[in-house]
Amino acid sequence: MATLFKDVFITDGSRARDKARRVHMLVSKGRIAEILDADKNPPSADKVIAGHGKLAVIPGFVNAHTHAAMTLLRGLGEEAPLMEWLQNKIWPVEEKLTPEYIYWGTLSAMLEMLATGTTCFADMYFEMDRVAEAVLGAGMRAALCRGITAGAPGMIEASLQNSIELAEKFHGREGLITVQLGPHAPYTVPMDYMKIICEAAKSHNLGIHFHFLETKGELDGLGLPPEKYLEEAGLFSVPYANLAHAVWLDPSINLPENINLIHNPTSNLKLGSGVMPLGAWLEKGTNNIALGTDGASSNNRLDMWAEMRMAALLDKGVKQDPLCVSAAEALKMATYEGAKIFGFAQKGMLEEGWVADLVLVNLDKPHYIGVNEENLTQYLVYAGSSADIEGTMVNGKWLYRNGNYPTLDYDEIVNKAKAAREEITK
Ligand code: NI
Repeated sequence: MATLFKDVFITDGSRARDKARRVHMLVSKGRIAEILDADKNPPSADKVIAGHGKLAVIPGFVNAHTHAAMTLLRGLGEEAPLMEWLQNKIWPVEEKLTPEYIYWGTLSAMLEMLATGTTCFADMYFEMDRVAEAVLGAGMRAALCRGITAGAPGMIEASLQNSIELAEKFHGREGLITVQLGPHAPYTVPMDYMKIICEAAKSHNLGIHFHFLETKGELDGLGLPPEKYLEEAGLFSVPYANLAHAVWLDPSINLPENINLIHNPTSNLKLGSGVMPLGAWLEKGTNNIALGTDGASSNNRLDMWAEMRMAALLDKGVKQDPLCVSAAEALKMATYEGAKIFGFAQKGMLEEGWVADLVLVNLDKPHYIGVNEENLTQYLVYAGSSADIEGTMVNGKWLYRNGNYPTLDYDEIVNKAKAAREEITK
């Protein structure tokens, strides 16, 4: 089935400080088949969405670091530092999570993410078979890894084995899923095991998703300079390593090209962890930085639009520089970069032939008065919000449209998630 977006504005992060376009865009067989200027005759299609210049289409957001099922833990242990929050509030409740609870908690997260324009999310958690099932059932896209932590003897080995089996079963499945190995953090995985995990990543040709230097305490306890730690662990020679947070990683360090960073500004602010020097990394020419919300119990939203706005504003204030982190850069980080660093090709830009993971935005609102091709990206990032979203499409199919979820049972998910929350907090 083909869908025509007739006379809509389009913009993506590729058009840094350049103009948005007013176009007809045809989506067919899951891809962007054709983009024509709006003054040309539109192609025919089964479904036509008539924009009249009052709708915009942007690429779907890629939430590059989250723990989806932590929707079930939202609000627990508010206003505490990271370690206190993890050890006293989060880990004891996580012990009570069953595969079933994680399944419904993930689906509940997906309701939030789809309504706020996310088409793909990178998830580090447990019981990832059930997470994969939720993702495939909905037709959403995800990069999945099991969080690997030390605990009882043999726990790391078992988690690693489980991760490899996850990859064998789901990596590349329906083009919707990629799988990574997910050592949790330097403070939960000893160096000897980091080396084993990195060797496994190399031999199985998998990427790594890793929390790195979220807090100052983590930097102080690392025992090695960060670049030495990364090198010794083997992270410089895996296919790719995506470092979440990196708040305390110094931008003067030169990183090899397989290392990508994931900025989580809201979670870092809320947990009092600090501010990643995004502006300094961008100034240095580092372009492989994606954006994530982190889990719902440390953000507390799973709203990538809000995260994009936060990322665009935060470093302007910190550096006292209004030119720092442009709206287009923030949009690119929130879309294309996340897809790229998690192994999803041809997603996150609006180009003919690219995959139709898209968000439909209503511009017919008071806060868009004055919007045009010149300023659309800035309007979206600074004035807009996820409340302007009318639809979220993955592979050319609507997964969210005007409050409805064609592939998900909203009421069942909310009821099951509520019941799970009650059980784990008894
Ligand atoms: Ni995290």
